[in-house]
Amino acid sequence: MAEKPIRLLIVDDIQSTRDNLRKLLSFEDDIEVVGTAGDGKEGVEEAQRLHPDIVLTDVNMPLMDGIQLTEQLTQDLPASPVIIMSVQGERDYLRRAMQAGAREFLIKPFSHDELVSAIRRVYAMELKKGTFLARTAEPPPAVTSGRSGLGEVFVVFSAKGGVGKSIIAANLAVALARETDAKVALVDLDLQFGDIGVMLNLNHSRSITDVVDAQDHLDAEVLDDILAVGPAGVRVLLAPVKPELADLVTPDHVRMVFAEVRKLCDFVVVDASSHLGEAILQVMEIASKILVVTGLTIPSVKNARLTLGVLESLNIDPERVLLVVNRVDGYSDFNKEATEQYLRVPVTVQIPHDPKAVSDAWNQGKPFVETQPEAEISRAIRELVFRLVPQEQAALAGGDKKRRRGIFGR
Ligand SMILES: Nc1ncnc2c1ncn2[C@@H]1O[C@H](COP(=O)(O)OP(=O)(O)O)[C@@H](O)[C@H]1O
Ligand SMILES: [Mg+2]
Repeated sequence: MAEKPIRLLIVDDIQSTRDNLRKLLSFEDDIEVVGTAGDGKEGVEEAQRLHPDIVLTDVNMPLMDGIQLTEQLTQDLPASPVIIMSVQGERDYLRRAMQAGAREFLIKPFSHDELVSAIRRVYAMELKKGTFLARTAEPPPAVTSGRSGLGEVFVVFSAKGGVGKSIIAANLAVALARETDAKVALVDLDLQFGDIGVMLNLNHSRSITDVVDAQDHLDAEVLDDILAVGPAGVRVLLAPVKPELADLVTPDHVRMVFAEVRKLCDFVVVDASSHLGEAILQVMEIASKILVVTGLTIPSVKNARLTLGVLESLNIDPERVLLVVNRVDGYSDFNKEATEQYLRVPVTVQIPHDPKAVSDAWNQGKPFVETQPEAEISRAIRELVFRLVPQEQAALAGGDKKRRRGIFGR
């Protein structure tokens, strides 16, 4: 028998379903059914009595349904995560189940394998993510030492495209430069479809493909010549002009770029593609923060969970992962609290959905933190700056130069 089986509570109003599930799971050494209940109310009572590792529940039940049960358990017994079972087509249930805090959703009929792997997955996640819960969204502690010699790297990432990575990376880099007076670089690692050049209206012929040409003699000075100069003096390494040139850039080239750019700048912001290849993985390894961007829609939050799972499996310290919610408006599938519950990670900053500020900025070829510095969307980016770089560190990075504006105390 496994060292300590996963203790499961089954909640379903149909006796034969409960019996079948129990029988099905009796073959698994690592899962033990510790109790059953015939409705949501009894489910809550049994959960409170037994403190199971996982509650497996049906949706439609008398007295209290599976959604209400989930809501209550999420609040009262967060250490007993819920897996909801429902028949196909109940799409609305999926949304409500996730909002209520359910960790998995099984669509009936499901196979034995699907059931067992869902139980194991949720349990494994619960074990690992226990540490996430203890965290709060407090700003990082202020560092007392100054620049160590190499610039700090912040990667903006999401396993899903179109969530706002590029727009956030570009605005973040410019806001960092303005707020701290530090030297900031922006590296476009979306090698096939880099948008930074267009976004910042940079008319510059050199890009990361020039690093390939200069690989035998690349140093900080050579790299400096390849960089474009963007708003607020941000040094920008552009992506190749054509997608087919992306393949020329190897992970080794990317490593060389970071070795040199960190000598030139205090902060390096990276706009990543959605592809988790070797190049971006090695950048994540040296990054001090990885900003995972998500929207508040069901597909986006589901993908954020996958992204966080991948980072976790790469053993990236959860302390280095910040969750940034983008395009927040009143019509989202989720709110901040439900997202945090579901992802088990605190939201660091919420960036509002502001199509006008965004499109005005696009049209002017400037970041919105410059075209509309007082808009909420720009304030949110500055808040992000503050989360990444505590004031003391900012002052040190900026050297003796006077800070332009006292934005930190908005
Ligand atoms: N907060 C926002 N408000 C309004 N539009 C946004 C916002 N964030 C992103 N967008 C828009 O969404 C689209 C995708 O953004 P982009 O930064 O290119 O995403 P990614 O780099 O993740 O693929 C762009 O058209 C952008 O203008
Ligand atoms: Mg992009």
